[in-house]
Amino acid sequence: MPSALKITAAAPDPALLDLPWHIPLEDWPEKTLAALPRGISRHVVRFVRLSGRVLAVKEIGESVAYREYELLRDLGRLDVPSVEPVGVITGRTTPEGEELNSVLITQHLKFSLPYRALFSRYLAPDTATRLIDALAVLLVRLHLTGFYWGDVSLSNTLFRRDAGEFAAYLVDAETGELHDSLTRGQREYDLEIARVNIIGELMDLDAGDLLLDEVDTVAVGEMIVSRYHELWDELTRVEEFGTTERWRVSDRIRRLNELGYDVGELQMTTDIDGTTVAIQPKVVDAGHHHRRLMRLTGLDVEENQARRLLNDMDTYQAATDQLGENEEFVAHEWLAEVFEPTVRAIPRHLRGKLEPAEFFHELLEHRWFMAQNAGHDIPMPQAVDSYIDNVLRHRPDEEAILGLDTATLRAIEHD
Ligand SMILES: Nc1ncnc2c1ncn2[C@@H]1O[C@H](COP(=O)(O)OP(=O)(O)O)[C@@H](O)[C@H]1O
Ligand SMILES: [Mg+2]
Repeated sequence: MPSALKITAAAPDPALLDLPWHIPLEDWPEKTLAALPRGISRHVVRFVRLSGRVLAVKEIGESVAYREYELLRDLGRLDVPSVEPVGVITGRTTPEGEELNSVLITQHLKFSLPYRALFSRYLAPDTATRLIDALAVLLVRLHLTGFYWGDVSLSNTLFRRDAGEFAAYLVDAETGELHDSLTRGQREYDLEIARVNIIGELMDLDAGDLLLDEVDTVAVGEMIVSRYHELWDELTRVEEFGTTERWRVSDRIRRLNELGYDVGELQMTTDIDGTTVAIQPKVVDAGHHHRRLMRLTGLDVEENQARRLLNDMDTYQAATDQLGENEEFVAHEWLAEVFEPTVRAIPRHLRGKLEPAEFFHELLEHRWFMAQNAGHDIPMPQAVDSYIDNVLRHRPDEEAILGLDTATLRAIEHD
C-alpha cells in the first residue's frame, strides 16, 4: 500500500516529496544529509539540503509535531528569535507498511552554533558568561510575550555571533505554552529549570574535559538567575519621582533604548495630592537598533551588530561633514560608499566564514588595533587586506562546519 503522506506547510516546497520519507530518519543515506554541527537531543534530528536551503528534520509524534509547529509559528509572528517552522509530515510508512513517526521540519538557522561547538573552539573563560547573558535576554523576551518555555537549556538554544557577544535563539519549543501573560511563579519556575539544566550541561562538558578548570559550573548556572532579574527589573520596574523631575521620563526611555528596547506604552500615575509620579513601561519591544538600521538601510542584522553599524554610520556622518543632513540620506550613502564595498572585498571563498555584519564588526576592531599600533588612522582598504590575511583566512567556516564532532573541532583549535 502506498502511504498517505500528508504535508502541512505554509508554503509547501514540492521538492519535499523527493526526500526518503519511507526510511526512518536515523537510516537516511549520507548523500541526502548536510553535515552541520548539532546539539544534544532526545529525538533523531538530521539536516538536509533542499532547493538551495538547509532544513532541520526532527522525528517526533504527530500531535507533538503539530503543536511545536504552531508554537514556532506564533513565536515568529511575535518576532521572538526562534527557528522558523517549515512544516509537518505525517502518514509515513515503510515499504513493508510499518508506520513511522511524524517529522517537524524547520529552517536551519544560518551561522548558528550549538553551545558545544562554541565551547570546544572558544575556550575563553568568558564564553560561558556571554552565552548565559544571551540566554537571559532571550528568556526575558519570551516571558514578556507570555511564552513559558518549560525546558530552558543550552541544548535547546542556538547561538549566533553578535558583534563580539552572542544572540540566542529558541530551537526546541516542544514543552512551551503561550499565555496572555505569565505569573511571577511561572517565570520563576522556568528560571529554576534553566539554572538546573545549565549546571547539568556544564558539568557534562566538564566531565568530557571541555571546560577550563576556572569555570565554576554552579556559579555560571546561578548567573542566569541574576542576569534575568536585572534585565527584567530594568524593563518593568515602577519608578517614582517628584513632579518637578519630569526629565526622568525621557531618561527612562533613553535607558531602555540603550538596552535595545523600545517602549510601546508608558503607564504614568500620580499620587492623590499630585506630588509624585510613578512610571512603568507597559510594552517593551526588543530590537531597537535592529529596527532603526533596518528602516534606514534594509540590513537585517542582530541587535549589537546593528548598534555597531549605526555607530559607524554616525562616525561617517561626522567625518564627511554632514551633521545637519537627514539620516536617510546619510544612511544610503554610507551603505553604498562604506558598507557594501567593504563586504564585497571579501574573496568569495572566504564568505562562509562569517556573516557580513559580523565581518564588518571584526574589521572595525581590527582597524582600531592597527591604528593604535601605528599611532595614526588606517585607510579602510589597508585594514581590509590585513584583516583578511591575518584573521579571516585562519577562522573555521561557520556557515557549514562539515560534520566535525567536538573532539575534532578542539583538535583544530589547538593546531
Ligand atoms: N532549525 C535548526 N537549525 C539549527 N539547528 C537545529 C535546528 N533544529 C534542530 N537543530 C539542532 O538539533 C538539536 C536538537 O533539536 P531539538 O529541537 O532540541 O530536539 P529534541 O526535541 O530532541 O531535544 C538542537 O540542539 C540543534 O543543535
Ligand atoms: Mg531539545
